[in-house]
Amino acid sequence: MKDLYGPDARAFAALEAAARRVFQSFGFREIRTPVLEEKELFTRALGAQTDVVQKEMYEFKDRSDTFVALRPEGTAGVVRAYLEDHFDKTEGLSKFFYMGPMFRSERPQAGRLRQFHQIGVETIGAAGPYADAEAIHCLAVFLDEAGIKGYRIKLNNLGTFGEREAFKKVLLKYFEPQKSALCDDCKTRLIKNVFRLLDCKNPACREIAEKSPAISGALDPESKDHFEKVLRSLEAIGLEYTLDPRMVRGLDYYTKTVFEVSHAALGAQDALAAGGRYDGLVESFGGTPAGAVGFALGVERLLMCGDKTETAGGAAESVFVVTLGEKAFEEGFKILSSLRTGGVTASMDFEAKSLKSQMRSADKSKSRYVVILGDNEIEKGVFTLKDMTGGGQEERALKDAVNFLKGKTG
Ligand code: HAM
Repeated sequence: MKDLYGPDARAFAALEAAARRVFQSFGFREIRTPVLEEKELFTRALGAQTDVVQKEMYEFKDRSDTFVALRPEGTAGVVRAYLEDHFDKTEGLSKFFYMGPMFRSERPQAGRLRQFHQIGVETIGAAGPYADAEAIHCLAVFLDEAGIKGYRIKLNNLGTFGEREAFKKVLLKYFEPQKSALCDDCKTRLIKNVFRLLDCKNPACREIAEKSPAISGALDPESKDHFEKVLRSLEAIGLEYTLDPRMVRGLDYYTKTVFEVSHAALGAQDALAAGGRYDGLVESFGGTPAGAVGFALGVERLLMCGDKTETAGGAAESVFVVTLGEKAFEEGFKILSSLRTGGVTASMDFEAKSLKSQMRSADKSKSRYVVILGDNEIEKGVFTLKDMTGGGQEERALKDAVNFLKGKTG
């Protein structure tokens, strides 16, 4: 888990602001759900046999003996809120976006943290393929807005739970005879969830998995048609994609369309964002059946893919106040406060005594202008303004200081 400050904190804030802009333009509204939920919510939504539930959740009993967990992802909480807060009754279609910390007790490595941040969207109450295309388009527009270049969108069609159940038999028939060549984990997966085998990173398992039958051959016309329409809609808006017929996702709630965005800068953990349709989830929580689709992207991973050059932050047009002597300090403090009230970024070193050390602080703050006030200036009713970009210095009337500086920095 990481502390966040400096350029990273600024980059986070900028991404969150971009997300709010883009997602709102697509008609999504912000929702903030609790970080802590009942553990059962995730077990039921994500699947009891998934790695996230089996190995990665931070879970504990609270003081009233309820099993709770820090959320490992955002979808389950949003669907719970959708039902608990009766959006299913008051709205036909609900479109949410969210951002915040998620927790997974994984082995940390580059791009994989135990507390990480997701930005995501969920459309609930839409069964048609255009909602899938809309979500993918929204993700692409956001990535473009965030300045990410060279990402790849991969898609697959996982069909309905029923179709998948039938396809399971096909997969088992394929993998069983090759059992002895599989890793120990995959031997267990063969019994518990054969689809997970397609996701194994072990080279030997991978080689076998790559030749396995693709699910597309086992799907009904309705699922095929839905996916075809998603692909046609993406083409219509000029979004490039590749098909990955063996892509499965680490969470069990997906149906039909699933997608992943990958980026070469990420190395082994190359998924920048992922999502898909989850048509059974609302119903499994006791709601009336409602089609749903969404995605989430990892903010830390996004920052690994972006341009590393740091922007100047908010300091470029700011003012630093330097004073010498008691009277000058009082006057300087008044100017500082008025500038801040007026929305100008301004600072002052309250501790430093000498002019030299205050100028050092001014330098460090990367302020554009320095206001210098000594008892001399106060007597003359002026202040000295120094332009730190090399523009020299000038004297100005003290009574106009705040307005003058506002004009300079505005
Ligand atoms: P997910 O694939 O588990 O999907 O996570 C989405 C993204 O979160 C990943 O692509 C990755 O960028 C980031 N991520 C996941 N785990 C970590 C980690 N340990 N460290 C850093 N980043 C990580 C979901 O969470 C689904 N709820 C997405 C979704 C929304 N599907 C439908 N709606």
